[in-house]
Order: sequence, then structure tokens, then C-alpha cells
Amino acid sequence: MSVKVPKDRTIDNTIALFKDGYEFVPKRVQSHHLDVYETRLLGEKVALISGEEGAKLFYDTDRMNRNGALPSRVLKTLFGEDAIQTMDGDAHTHRKLLFMSLMTPEALENLRELTTTYWERFTGKWQGMKKVVLYDEVRELLCRTACEWAGVPLTEKEVDKRTRDLSNMIDGFSAIGPKHIESRKARKRSEKWIEDLIKKIREGKLELKEGTALYEMAVHRDLDGQLLDTRMAAIELLNVIRPLIAISKFLTFGAVAFEDYPETKPQVAEDDDYLFHFAQEVRRYYPFVPFLGARVDHDFTWQQYPFKEGQLVIIDIYGTNHDPKLWEKPDEFQPERFQDWKGGLFDLIPQGGGDYYKGHRCPGEWPTLEVLQASFRFMSKHLHYTVPKQDYSYNLRKMPALPKSGFIMKNVSMK
Ligand code: HEM
Repeated sequence: MSVKVPKDRTIDNTIALFKDGYEFVPKRVQSHHLDVYETRLLGEKVALISGEEGAKLFYDTDRMNRNGALPSRVLKTLFGEDAIQTMDGDAHTHRKLLFMSLMTPEALENLRELTTTYWERFTGKWQGMKKVVLYDEVRELLCRTACEWAGVPLTEKEVDKRTRDLSNMIDGFSAIGPKHIESRKARKRSEKWIEDLIKKIREGKLELKEGTALYEMAVHRDLDGQLLDTRMAAIELLNVIRPLIAISKFLTFGAVAFEDYPETKPQVAEDDDYLFHFAQEVRRYYPFVPFLGARVDHDFTWQQYPFKEGQLVIIDIYGTNHDPKLWEKPDEFQPERFQDWKGGLFDLIPQGGGDYYKGHRCPGEWPTLEVLQASFRFMSKHLHYTVPKQDYSYNLRKMPALPKSGFIMKNVSMK
């Protein structure tokens, strides 16, 4: 029996995408019987897909490619040009191994310890402050943690500037006007900063331990046996430290969760399993990455829909994490749901899905969970603070989303 694939009847929906934000794709796909919906964005016919089945298709590397899927405004700010996110096939697998090689148990333990050390130091500083805006502070905390973990020397004088540039790269990709221009400049400055360090390592002027991200990027050879050019090595190093700073958004949302669901905080402090489930629920429940794009490798039909070679396909990240077919009461914050979770590769996808090695799933999922758990443990066990009246609501129409006040704390001290 042939079923009609639903589609938008309007000429172009780019404006609706910016108006609906995180809800643009789920609003369309989840209102129908299939996991696919056709729309038009920037003049292109685009297939929107969602849910577990949609994610399986999106991560099928025989049918989907990444080259040409990302708009230049995203490459010139967030990711960098020609980096791992745009690669396919053997070249991608080889580059991915470089990232995966950084995630050893020792390196992750080191990251956990560094994160806790910086929370202790920052708490000392916050004790003397009238008010602390958590989001602003944890960006710096994570910038210091990320640089130390990656082997990137960071002087006191440059901490502010580097933190600002790395965050602007994250926040400016979807902006228009001056904010976007500033984001491009921030990327240029950051690439230059790291490129100079890569050159110093190669010239023997900077010594680093093997296994640190900076060292490994400097000595990595591509499939043709050549060292990465210095700019590419810098871009890939930024693909490690920039997302570590982005964890500040999940941390700020976690602080909001402690207030909105106060029963969670003592359980996070006392029970390590619950702590892990809390971190997972923060990643599932709160909005971060809205969707991702790929291009169709060759013509095929899926759920009655004729995918055409080269067509843009968008997978719904936020909507899949809130899909009622996968999650009971998806719009409730319930860390307990992870007690019986089977660990599916295509249901919890805040950092992508599928296999780490074969596809584009985020290699930073373990570091993210380490940083989140170390931070939530510290906040619940050792950090005393009061929460003054403020608006920490967030808007699903604004991408990337963030609690409005940035989460203000007062009377901060060690417990
Ligand atoms: C706030 C935490 C993070 C979020 C929300 C996040 C999200 C994502 C997402 C959605 C993808 C794309 C998956 C795809 O294209 O299919 C991705 C890829 C990637 N992430 Fe993360 N990430 C985070 C943290 C990290 C960390 C801590 C690192 C490094 C230490 C990292 C490094 C990367 C890299 C290198 C890729 C590209 C992988 C590839 O193309 O094969 N991320 N991340």
C-alpha cells in the first residue's frame, strides 16, 4: 500500500526554522505516521527524519555522506573548514582514530581530577564575590581544565580572551550580524593561537607529554603519511577544547535541575549510580544540539520516500531525545528512567548516535560524562550557595538555548 509522505506546502521554511528553533523538526515529523517529512530550506528540498529509525538511517554510512552537508557559516565559526565533521570513508575513520586514541582510562581519570581541582579553586574565588553567574564562571573553569588536559599552555593574561573566543565560536554560528562576524574573528584568532603552538612543537621549542591532544595533533600523519598542515592540526585541536567548554551549558542546566527538582540533589550527592543517571537525563532533557545534516549518497527509497542523490537530510536530535515512542513521559525530568535503559545506540543521541569508529558519533561523550559527573558531585556535596530570585527559564526558539540569567548564585562557600 502506498502512503503519502507528508510535506510542507510553503515555498520555503527557513524563517519557520528560526522561529520554531528546537521544535521545528519534531513539530513536523512527530505529527505524522512516518519518520520522514519533506520541507524546503534555503531553496533546497530537504528530508527531515526523526526517532530511532531515522537515526539508524542517518548513521548508515553507505547511504549518507557528510561532505557538503554543513553550511559555510557553521564551518567558519563552530567547526572549522575541512575538519573531521566534513570527512567520509577511510579518511574519516583514520582521523577518528586520532580522537579516539585520546580517550584512554588514564586520560579520563586525569580529566575527572582536573575538573574537581578547578571546582575547588573556583569555589575559593567565589567565596569573596557578591554574586556568581555560574555560566560565565564555568566557561572559564572549563577553559582552564580543557587547556591543561589537552597540553595547551595558557597564561593568566590570556585566560579571559581565550575563554571568550572559544565560547563565541560556539554561540555565533546561528547568529546574524555583528555576533556572527565576531564569531568568525574568534575562530581566526583561535586557529592562529594553536597553529603557533603546533609549529613550536614541530620545531622542538615546546615539549609535551605523548598522549596529550596538542602533542598528538602535532605528530599525527594522514593516510598519505604526511603531517597535518599546521592549520588543520590547529582546527582539530580546537575540536577538543572548544566542546569541552561547551559542557558549561549542560552544567548550567544541571544547576537549574537541582532547583526545579530539589529531590534530585541529595541523591546525586549520595549515590554514584543516581549521579550517572542524572548526568544522562541532563543530556537528554535539556536542549543543546537541535539537529544535524548529511547528504544522500545515492538514490534509494525509505519509508515510501524517494531520497535523491545529493539531497540534504536533517536528523532531529532534540526531538529524538524527546520522542514519546522511545521515552515514557519525555517532557518530565526523571533520572530514574536510566536505571533500566538498555544503552541503545540510536535513542539517546544528544552527541550523535551509532558507532564511534564507523560514523560521526561524538568521541567526546566519555569526557563529557566525566566532567558532568565530577561537577555535579562537587556541586551537590561540597558547594553551598543560595539562589536569589531570577529568571532562569530558557527559550526553545533560541538556538543554542541557555537559562536566561545564566544561573545566579549568592553566599557561595565550601560545605
Ligand atoms: C557539551 C558536550 C558535547 C556535545 C553536546 C557534543 C555534541 C556533538 C555532536 C552532536 C556531534 C556530531 C555527531 C554527528 O555528526 O553525527 C559531535 C561530534 C564531535 N564531537 Fe562532540 N559534543 C560534546 C563534547 C565533546 C567533547 C568534550 C569533545 C572532545 C573532547 C568532542 C569532540 C567532538 C568531535 C571531534 C566530533 C566530530 C566527530 C566526527 O565527525 O566523527 N565533543 N559532538
